[in-house]
Amino acid sequence: MYLKTISIKGWRNYKETKVCFSPGINLFLGNNGQGKTNLLEAIYFLSCGQSPRTAKIEELINWSGKYFYLKGELCRGEIKNTIEMGGARDGRRANKIDGIPLQRLAEVSGLLNTVFFMPEDLYLVKGGPSARRRFLDLEIGQISKAYRYAVGNYKKYLRERNALLKSRVQDKILLQVLTEKLAEFAGPIAEHRNDYLQKLSILARLKHRKLSGNMEELNLKYNWSIGPGLSRQEILDRYAESRLQEQRYKSTLVGPHKDDFSFIINGSDLRAFGSQGQQRTAVLSVKLAEIELIKAETNEYPLLLLDDVFSELDDDRKNLLLEYLTDRVQTFISSAEPLPPKAMVTPYWIDAGRISERI
Ligand SMILES: Nc1ncnc2c1ncn2[C@@H]1O[C@H](COP(=O)(O)OP(=O)(O)OP(=O)(O)O)[C@@H](O)[C@H]1O
Ligand SMILES: [Mg+2]
Repeated sequence: MYLKTISIKGWRNYKETKVCFSPGINLFLGNNGQGKTNLLEAIYFLSCGQSPRTAKIEELINWSGKYFYLKGELCRGEIKNTIEMGGARDGRRANKIDGIPLQRLAEVSGLLNTVFFMPEDLYLVKGGPSARRRFLDLEIGQISKAYRYAVGNYKKYLRERNALLKSRVQDKILLQVLTEKLAEFAGPIAEHRNDYLQKLSILARLKHRKLSGNMEELNLKYNWSIGPGLSRQEILDRYAESRLQEQRYKSTLVGPHKDDFSFIINGSDLRAFGSQGQQRTAVLSVKLAEIELIKAETNEYPLLLLDDVFSELDDDRKNLLLEYLTDRVQTFISSAEPLPPKAMVTPYWIDAGRISERI
């Protein structure tokens, strides 16, 4: 499967443009601030309806416009599909697959999978737990509609429950109903994340061994707030145990919204003890592992989006990454400088939101 074209209207610094892509490696060159990352962000957005850079739709709309519109044409052998997504300043969204409107965004899962690697991804190691939870939710959501529904429901009931805990008069029955709703989704979400992380850990360990010249052993470990393998009743008990504290903090204190995961290298926590280079390599290993995992789960390679990655790597790692990139995976690379000459790429030039194929 590959993305044949993208049409863009009113997205970030793009007014209106359409680009045809190569099924192999597409390289977007251009000076700083011209729209390279914005283009990769648009491709990623088409895959899941979310941006890795912001949760605010209005930030994605061109400053002089009222809405954005994206359309992607996908080719899977003889089969062609289109995905369309639009968003307006008043918050309205419209999404279509093959011209048919989607009732829920989760329905887009699985049609176009992507793995996005950008310099900010270092925050996956260095940042707070919410960045890692967001990563898990986005990545698992790509391959599992059931997971996206569960997370969507959990977040909705969590918002309602937290609002209730903050209110002066608390309806005890409503609190119990919302707790039971949370308990229904909490277990499956955390178990799903843990399973995904275990598989990702095995694949990432292999990639990391290669990238570190067999010097480092990487492990990813899920940190539960309610524990693995619990029945629904046991999960309800965990919520009940935290009730007193909840009244004090006026917020739900246990559940998958408090979970996290750690990067462990040779037994030490990478966040606390890893060097910048080790952290960057670990994130790259995880991203390359994701490609394999998506292939294993869906039988298709995802698109690979590499934003400004080469400038961050030393020559050995640059070459290892280039060796990995082959025609199997349709790849989109942004760079302010040309790549080493051995890379076979289709180059484009981006200048102030205009894209032209470079001859
Ligand atoms: N909603 C928006 N409307 C209009 N312009 C925007 C919007 N959001 C961002 N921009 C502009 O887009 C430009 C940044 O684009 P982008 O991040 O794609 O740059 P880049 O080509 O990747 O640059 P670099 O090489 O520095 O990474 C900035 O000039 C920014 O002001
Ligand atoms: Mg950029």
